[in-house]
Amino acid sequence: MNEVLKAIKERRTTRKFKPEQIKEEELQAIIEAGLYAPSGTNQQPWHFTVIQNKDLIDEMNFEAKEVFKQSDNEFLRKVGFNDKYKVTYDAPTIILISGLNNNHYTEVDCAAATQNMLLAAHSLGIASCWCGAPSAAFNGGKKEELISKLNIPEDYTPFYTVLLGYSDNTPSKGPERKENTVQYLR
Ligand SMILES: Cc1cc2nc3c(=O)[nH]c(=O)nc-3n(C[C@H](O)[C@H](O)[C@H](O)COP(=O)(O)O)c2cc1C
Repeated sequence: MNEVLKAIKERRTTRKFKPEQIKEEELQAIIEAGLYAPSGTNQQPWHFTVIQNKDLIDEMNFEAKEVFKQSDNEFLRKVGFNDKYKVTYDAPTIILISGLNNNHYTEVDCAAATQNMLLAAHSLGIASCWCGAPSAAFNGGKKEELISKLNIPEDYTPFYTVLLGYSDNTPSKGPERKENTVQYLR
């Protein structure tokens, strides 16, 4: 199996990170992989915010959990009220992916960039989690304050995050694949 196929199959979500920060060259390689994703009519409609400030990461965790506390969904409410649970899993680096508004393929383009970053991270021995939960922070009362603090450009919407760090977990085999999701017409 070649290295790309191996990375695709072996990449796993990590939710336990060592406190040690990733190296700058590793971060730059991961960002570059995101920037090289394909995009509809080459709009490249993404904006990445790299957050390595612990106070800001903790603030996102706190605000997201405040939103979950108000949720109709029992699981999310439990997450919100669980003092021990961090939606950011104490990852030392977070990349927030925001997308350009009113552009046809923004969300899928951002998803392609996100997956590129996960695979690049894996290839460099960096653990990652594609994580939607921290973005709940932008659905709460502190939305505008947070957007301003994170300097998210006007006309962009924050979608999801990539958590990055060195793994503090033994790698798992990963979930089984669903069956019957491919049809061949030949
Ligand atoms: C759009 C999206 C949002 C996700 N959000 C979260 C999240 O908020 N928290 C979390 O722990 N994992 C999150 N995940 C990770 C998935 O739970 C994970 O990819 C899935 O369980 C499969 O495991 P694997 O990545 O190891 O193959 C998200 C994944 C995607 C693609």
